[in-house]
Amino acid sequence: MRAFPSLCAAALLLQSALAVTIPEINGDRYISPYKGKSVSGVKGLVTAKGSSGFYLRSTDADSDDRTSNSVYIYGSRGVSQVAVGDIITLSGKVAEYRSSSSYVYSTEIESPSDITILSSGNDVTPIVIGQDDLDPPTEQYSSLDDGDVFSLPGDSSLLSTTNPVLEPTEYGMDFWQSLSGELATLTGVTAVGKANKYGDTWVTGNWPVTGRNDRGGLTMRANDSNPESIVIGSPLDGSDNPTDTKLGDTFDDITGIITQAYGFYTLLPLTALSRTGSNATEAAATTLTSDGTCSAITIGDYNVDNFSPESTTMSGIADHIANYLKSPTIVFLQEIQDNSGPTDNGVVSANVTLSKLASAIKEQGGVEYNYTDIDPINDTNGGEHGGNIRVAYLYDPSVVRLRNYHPGSSTDATEVLAGGGLSYNPGLIDPSNAAWNDSRKPLAAEWETLDGKNSFYTINVHFTSKYDSTSLEGDPRPPVNGWVENRVEQAKVVAKFVTSILSVKSDAKIVTAGDFNEYAFVEPVEVFASKSTLQDLEEVAGIPATERYTYLYNQNCESLDHMFISSALTSGAKMEHIHVNTWVSTAEEMSDHDPTVALLNVCE
Ligand SMILES: *[C@@H]1O[C@H](CO)[C@@H](O)[C@H](O)[C@H]1NC(C)=O
Ligand SMILES: *[C@@H]1O[C@H](CO)[C@@H](O)[C@H](O)[C@H]1NC(C)=O
Ligand SMILES: *[C@@H]1O[C@H](CO)[C@@H](O)[C@H](O)[C@H]1NC(C)=O
Ligand SMILES: *[C@@H]1O[C@H](CO)[C@@H](O)[C@H](O)[C@H]1NC(C)=O
Ligand SMILES: *[C@@H]1O[C@H](CO)[C@@H](O)[C@H](O)[C@H]1NC(C)=O
Ligand SMILES: *[C@@H]1O[C@H](CO)[C@@H](O)[C@H](O)[C@H]1NC(C)=O
Repeated sequence: MRAFPSLCAAALLLQSALAVTIPEINGDRYISPYKGKSVSGVKGLVTAKGSSGFYLRSTDADSDDRTSNSVYIYGSRGVSQVAVGDIITLSGKVAEYRSSSSYVYSTEIESPSDITILSSGNDVTPIVIGQDDLDPPTEQYSSLDDGDVFSLPGDSSLLSTTNPVLEPTEYGMDFWQSLSGELATLTGVTAVGKANKYGDTWVTGNWPVTGRNDRGGLTMRANDSNPESIVIGSPLDGSDNPTDTKLGDTFDDITGIITQAYGFYTLLPLTALSRTGSNATEAAATTLTSDGTCSAITIGDYNVDNFSPESTTMSGIADHIANYLKSPTIVFLQEIQDNSGPTDNGVVSANVTLSKLASAIKEQGGVEYNYTDIDPINDTNGGEHGGNIRVAYLYDPSVVRLRNYHPGSSTDATEVLAGGGLSYNPGLIDPSNAAWNDSRKPLAAEWETLDGKNSFYTINVHFTSKYDSTSLEGDPRPPVNGWVENRVEQAKVVAKFVTSILSVKSDAKIVTAGDFNEYAFVEPVEVFASKSTLQDLEEVAGIPATERYTYLYNQNCESLDHMFISSALTSGAKMEHIHVNTWVSTAEEMSDHDPTVALLNVCE
């Protein structure tokens, strides 16, 4: 016969539910089963203190590796009553806290009271990440991502409402969540990012990683966005982390508290990071140089980051183009601002910006470039307000010229003529298409060598950026990939133009390059590749997947910039990414992107 608890036993159960352990409070999911409830008799060891609270590790740890043994006790009143090494009991209220609606919640106990110190001076031993099989998963973030953190649509579910059971050996977020509030040591610490202005630095420790590149960073690859890294946040003792760290730097062991801060799993170190070594060798100049003939034309591509006549990066960017890219025959530029920079005064011409850059390149020992671009309609290209950023070409007029130069205006759509020429050269691709609303219109051009015998086409793109994206470690799953639908539409418009050239001239030599603001394995670039039939030059040139990056964002070396070529150009094609910006500290950067150089044979 089945026994039902008596009324009296049920009442006892209710009462004892208040006296819970820290693992019970955390539970095996993201949101505490005790959220909003008052708890008492919570027992633990004080492992660390911050200015507004302290961290408590259960003295009754369970054997479930999903339930964190530690929790944050929020409330500055409590801080003054306890010391690290005290074993205490307390009462309080379980709460879930986050500072923005797109972040993951952290479980904490608020308004601690009845703090009783049972003993003091106890040993505080951090757990060690990377020891005893405590290794973070290296590829997937969350079970809610459908196998791919970039699968669409983003924001299909929320961790906070779906509240999945943690799988710490499968998913990176679940791993770090299962250690939330825990005092942990990292050994073998290597920077996989560069410090931001607050000194926050992404690192890996002594545990297995995937995607490691030659520099010591982690390269984002298809279905591998590197959740095995963690960001080191502000030290709990109020000291400051260095702000000049670089990709690949090494550090002393770090001990601190694992938590969620500003949308990422973070280790708050007890004291500031201390650097032990650096991989600060400079990026080398490209080995790909033009000989001035059709058999060796070089193409550069560089997003020069809100570049205006007043840019303090003028000589640095010029040095990159002259001495690191070795003056490519044609340079695809993105983010060229008008002559008045970000001043919103109706000026749209960038002839001063571009001629100053051309002169600076000459001064740095480069070739004497000519340039071409099309002024946008005031304030319709997005980007920095008033800057009127656009794409533009620099070209070496001693090697190539625009075939039958007759430029279009900001509203003219260039089209492919029956003979293969462009109706406007250079010309914008379908500039009134809604796909380009508040974004840069792609610039198509047809070029020829000075003997007129060899011709080829270029398309310079700068798709809508990923602003409004949510953190890879945020609440919406998969994360919101900001403006991805716009980039898909943009990819289709450019691909259609490419196929219109190929339908007139199946062996046309076409280079489409620029800042696609998207990764090669995510829908906009996949759509572009399949619809245009162009080939990704990284693939053609055989660049290893771990060395495909032009951008360093948080923990990932990644590629937003791409070059695609038609099959008539693939033979002997070469490509190099020149890491002049990802390998230096934030203060030393000339742009947030690295440039790229390609070598192509355009001979008939
Ligand atoms: C990435 O994961 C998705 C979903 O599991 C899968 O469909 C796709 O084939 C994977 N891509 C690669 C390159 O492994
Ligand atoms: C520098 O990078 C190499 C890999 O190229 C790595 O083996 C080495 O540990 C790094 N050194 C430092 C100090 O980070
Ligand atoms: C364009 O330029 C003028 C200055 O002539 C500026 O005040 C205006 O706000 C700009 N934007 C638009 C959308 O017209
Ligand atoms: C820019 O264009 C304006 C108007 O056509 C012209 O007066 C000026 O000389 C040009 N400046 C340079 C540096 O080319
Ligand atoms: C520079 O380009 C302009 C068109 O943009 C052209 O008129 C001029 O002749 C070119 N200069 C040289 C030296 O090729
Ligand atoms: C263009 O973008 C603006 C704001 O960026 C928006 O208000 C407008 O509806 C958009 N228009 C189209 C046709 O998408």
